[in-house]
Amino acid sequence: MSEPIRVVVTGAAGQIAYSLLYMIAKGDVFGPDQAVILHLLDIPPMMEVLQGVVMELADCALPLLRGVVPTADPAEAFKDVSAAFLVGAMPRKQGMERKDLLSANVKIFKVQGEALNEYAKKDVKVLVVGNPANTNALVCSKYAPSIPRENFTAMTRLDQNRAQAQIAAKAGVPVNQVYNVFIWGNHSSTQVPDASHAKVITGPNTAISAADAVKNEAWLLAEFIATVQKRGAAVIAARKMSSAMSAAKAAADHMRDWFRGTEPGKYVSMGVVSDGSYGAPKDVVFSFPVEIKNGKWSIVQGLPINDFYQQLLTATGKELEEEKAEAFSVINS
Ligand code: NAI
Repeated sequence: MSEPIRVVVTGAAGQIAYSLLYMIAKGDVFGPDQAVILHLLDIPPMMEVLQGVVMELADCALPLLRGVVPTADPAEAFKDVSAAFLVGAMPRKQGMERKDLLSANVKIFKVQGEALNEYAKKDVKVLVVGNPANTNALVCSKYAPSIPRENFTAMTRLDQNRAQAQIAAKAGVPVNQVYNVFIWGNHSSTQVPDASHAKVITGPNTAISAADAVKNEAWLLAEFIATVQKRGAAVIAARKMSSAMSAAKAAADHMRDWFRGTEPGKYVSMGVVSDGSYGAPKDVVFSFPVEIKNGKWSIVQGLPINDFYQQLLTATGKELEEEKAEAFSVINS
């Protein structure tokens, strides 16, 4: 068993963290041989609630959990961390557009970028979950210049998992028989769930295209895309709260794959600082299909993109450029 690593979760008294902390502490993310010390950051009014979470973590009796540091102080929270789950933010309420959230949330991510810059390990891997996740990740990276830009990512894995589940249900197969469906662009209603490269496993060494498996290409181009894009809003309408259990699972999936790698030929979606691949705007955090080896992600290159998807990619890229301009005008005002 190696030395414990320090992992921070912000918004630790909130609903996503309530599911996520258990997954991390029981080994789902860093593996069964990696002990962890959890740093739990929330705001001062939530410290009492956070104490309850600390008690429950102890009561789970998890052997990999070697320490818990609950705090409202970013300096203590980010000290020597190797992984950061930035979940804490104001959640979207029913009827609220993501853009309304932007001004409230980008300021939080500026402060947390500065704290990561000062206190975290220089190879810290940062996953931003709090919305607007892509633009918050960009803001965070700008204020942490001593940490490589590629160490800042935004979560679109929940959208990918939703897409995978939709195709599996339509094809009538278990979800792990569907692969290479992924998300382009922003974690918002302009996101582009792309099933044109997706495959469905049909036997020990055989797979067919998702279009053949669902026997309905028109569904993949219309209803499927709309369902995935609007899934977050549908969960809010039903639960009166935003997705939490599934968001925690996706955050765990994202960080697990980043630390432990992806299988050859299998892609996962990550919001990363764009290098302009596939005509995406540069210097925004854009979700691409990536492969991961030795803790480093790389954008999958050379996938053919038809006009239908290219137009959608352009629209989501434009939204990200607008969000970026708005975010930095809020910060600089
Ligand atoms: P929640 O409201 O239950 O918890 C948020 C927690 O963050 C609260 O305890 C709050 O006190 C804390 N917080 C607020 N400001 C903070 C700060 N400056 N530092 C540390 N903690 C702070 O919200 P929930 O449901 O856990 O969602 C968290 C975020 O995740 C929201 O922004 C939500 O929109 C986003 N989200 C993102 C998804 C994605 O796919 N990228 C999916 C689902 C939710």
